Amino acid sequence: MARGLDLSAEELDRALRVVSEAIRGWSERIASLDPAGTAHDPASQGVRTDWRPPFAPGPPPEEGEDLGELVRRVVADFAPDAQVVGHPGFLGYAAGAGNLVSALGQALAMALNPYTGTMSTAPAFVRIEDEVIRWFCAITGYPPEAGGILTSGSSLAILSAVIAARERARAPWEKARCYASDQAHHAVGKALFAAGFRPENLVVLASRDGRMDSVALAERVRRDRAAGLVPVLVVGTAGTTNAGRVDPLGAIADVCEESGAWFHCDAAYGGFFRLLPEIGALRGMERADSISLDPHKSFSMPYGTGALLARRVADLRFPRGLDASYMPPVRDEDLRYEYGEISPELSRDFRGLRVWLAIRAFGLGAFRENLRAKRRQALWLAEEIRRKSRLELVTEPDLSILTFRVRDDPDGAATRALLARINSGGRFFLTSAVLGGRFVIRVCLLGFRTTDELLEEFGDVVNL
Ligand SMILES: Cc1ncc(COP(=O)(O)O)c(C=O)c1O
Repeated sequence: MARGLDLSAEELDRALRVVSEAIRGWSERIASLDPAGTAHDPASQGVRTDWRPPFAPGPPPEEGEDLGELVRRVVADFAPDAQVVGHPGFLGYAAGAGNLVSALGQALAMALNPYTGTMSTAPAFVRIEDEVIRWFCAITGYPPEAGGILTSGSSLAILSAVIAARERARAPWEKARCYASDQAHHAVGKALFAAGFRPENLVVLASRDGRMDSVALAERVRRDRAAGLVPVLVVGTAGTTNAGRVDPLGAIADVCEESGAWFHCDAAYGGFFRLLPEIGALRGMERADSISLDPHKSFSMPYGTGALLARRVADLRFPRGLDASYMPPVRDEDLRYEYGEISPELSRDFRGLRVWLAIRAFGLGAFRENLRAKRRQALWLAEEIRRKSRLELVTEPDLSILTFRVRDDPDGAATRALLARINSGGRFFLTSAVLGGRFVIRVCLLGFRTTDELLEEFGDVVNL
């Protein structure tokens, strides 16, 4: 590569060609790859013990190397051992396939390199991001004055929500109580810890059939208040990680309104299913004080794209605490555009462009129809599994996740063996969970490349 850090027009052309050919080659080959990645060990579900990194770490080169060769190595030597999340047969975790318009939008965002931590530094780009936030608010049923921030993912969205809840309650530490079901994502526990809470501040409620028991929640909150404790926060999950269950959101909202606790709805996986009005279980989400969403799951965005929405944007404001005379002034009426004020980040990735471009280029209908198809596929597969005498459907899909196991398999050994067999076949990749003490195989349908025909093939594979 050339001396200095700038590129001549010819060098830029060549660099663009190199990267565009790499992306094109990858997307043409994606269906022929092993979705599990070559480093995966189906038996342990971890990395193979004989896996070796394709290079030994060393000092950075003093002189530049050839970009074409570097990109070739990335795609040929490093990429194959990673799990191929966009593969048609990738049915693990809660992984969206990551659309390529957004990938290209990200390259554009980084080439433009605007500073979106404050409104005055890039007002039109900040409006682009704000339009995305407004679209997400409309999808979840929030009123027009609601707002929020695009984050790296739901973990940081939940952290901001926990801090907002803590600040609203201002309860003495030892009296503060935060409630979540045993199916809530562990990001909730991490966020509580990062926000200064201790394990004794968290009340973990036993779930019923994978969902929060709202009667037990109401009872526990009532008892805690009677004992002088302060209900600070309740986290309800719209689409649990293990089984895709949706907590009773309306009943949780009732408890929060009555007790004054902040209601955070963790809709990391399930939130975008609000695009399907036929799914009644998601009603009540709009009553939450805040909602975490992961466009990189059910909205087919690349990783690193999460969102936090809040009914009242001012609740997200971080006091500066220190003089910041080097910062442009912030007008209260512009708070929704001042991402450096309403999130812990200041300098930040311009996440809005990749989402905005994809929604505009594909149309929202394409995202809605993808989720409708995934739900239909999940219901079809659940029915197929129910019909197979060797298998037991453990949970039906509330949205697009279902779980199953091998029948009469008390220690889970046959179910583990089935999972290992599927994951070593090179066509499908699935993950597992433990539900009610039983090992289950999870299927999560989100990827837009997963066709009905492929799913029929999957139905045959599980039945062997
Ligand atoms: C329900 C739920 N909440 C939160 C998270 C954490 O989100 P992220 O990985 O985007 O930080 C996940 C998944 O990773 C999840 O499934």
